[in-house]
Amino acid sequence: MSIRFGLIGVGSMGNVHLSNLKHVPALQLTAVCDIVPERADAAAATYNCQAFYDHRDLLRAKVCDAVLIATPHYDHTTIGIAALKAGLHVLVEKPISVHKADCERLIAAHTNKKQVFAAMFNQRTDPHYYKLRELVKAGELGALQRVVWIITNWFRTEAYYASGDWRATWSGEGGGVLLNQCPHNLDLLQWICGMPRRVYGFCKFGKYHKIEVEDDVTAYFEYDNGATGVFISTTGEAPGTNRLEITGERGKVVVEHGTVTFTRTVVNTRTFCRTSPERFATPDVWHITIPTDGYGGQHTEILRNFAEAIEKGTPLIAPAREGIHSVELANAMLYSTFTKQPVELPLDAAAYERLLKKLIASSKRKKPARPATAAPLTDMSKSFASR
Ligand SMILES: NC(=O)c1ccc[n+]([C@@H]2O[C@H](COP(=O)([O-])OP(=O)(O)OC[C@H]3O[C@@H](n4cnc5c(N)ncnc54)[C@H](O)[C@@H]3O)[C@@H](O)[C@H]2O)c1
Repeated sequence: MSIRFGLIGVGSMGNVHLSNLKHVPALQLTAVCDIVPERADAAAATYNCQAFYDHRDLLRAKVCDAVLIATPHYDHTTIGIAALKAGLHVLVEKPISVHKADCERLIAAHTNKKQVFAAMFNQRTDPHYYKLRELVKAGELGALQRVVWIITNWFRTEAYYASGDWRATWSGEGGGVLLNQCPHNLDLLQWICGMPRRVYGFCKFGKYHKIEVEDDVTAYFEYDNGATGVFISTTGEAPGTNRLEITGERGKVVVEHGTVTFTRTVVNTRTFCRTSPERFATPDVWHITIPTDGYGGQHTEILRNFAEAIEKGTPLIAPAREGIHSVELANAMLYSTFTKQPVELPLDAAAYERLLKKLIASSKRKKPARPATAAPLTDMSKSFASR
């Protein structure tokens, strides 16, 4: 069976998806859509499919069974709802929406569960993270005590921010590093450790770039079991770090430089603390390197999984409904920063939407720095270099 497939948003990421489709023959490209006609026309000519300049025309034409939405984030909600209502299977780029209330609206439109609704959380295919998740879920680390993720190698230049008028504005993007680069990390964090109960956010706006949104973030979390967490990110530091460290009562796992290292305490740390007669003793440890092979199938694997979910009901790697959690975390960090208070989760979605509306009203969204017809970046390989 081949699935008639459409791409909405033929920009930087959309072009990467188009070139990945050759590895997923089950998805047969029948349509592309972009509000910049030259982009849709160029892709349609290259891939021999129909071009549309408005997603509503694409949906009305009934030439697709499934669509991938790779437009700027705000449109994920409106186009996603329209595509679900039209009965299509939908794969939506991250973040699934800009704010929690929009996530709820989008997820609520998925009423027919025969329609597959997935999100492009490609980093879930990376064995470093899914093996870490298996360790945590299997209780190998014991009760979690602390999680620290320093993810500061999302460096971006002013030229990057100038490459689309929607970027790094409240009205065009609804946030900065938390809404564009960090959705991957925030998704993995909640996927591995679950959601915290309380979030304290400390965001800096335009600290390193001429932008109105956050480009520097430090957040502190508290979890139900008393574990704590710190999340640090920026687009303004080089060379930057990507180090995820999770400590539990049976040791510590570090993911850094492409390796997963598990330093396992031979006994439970809390038990040792209570029972050891020594004053300065620490538990003995075993050093274990968890084998990992490469970085997984990434975007192509999510595409393939989406096709297999449609064809034969294969479970999704990243169901779209789970995309609400990373958005909620990002929103909570921003809300805490603006209110100068900790945020209890679940976040009050309506209160955050009100705040965002005020920010949008004050947005100094730039005029396009380049003509809208400028060719999108198609070599995105460096943008994924977050290891
Ligand atoms: N999964 C990943 O690794 C990854 C990487 C980069 C970007 N993304 C996501 O992909 C999305 C697009 O980012 P990008 O960097 O490709 O942006 P981009 O600006 O390069 O491309 C967006 C494209 O969408 C088009 N567009 C805008 N509104 C539209 C509409 N209503 N209908 C149809 N087309 C429309 C624009 O003309 C443009 O061609 C974002 O949500 C971003 O978060 C994901």
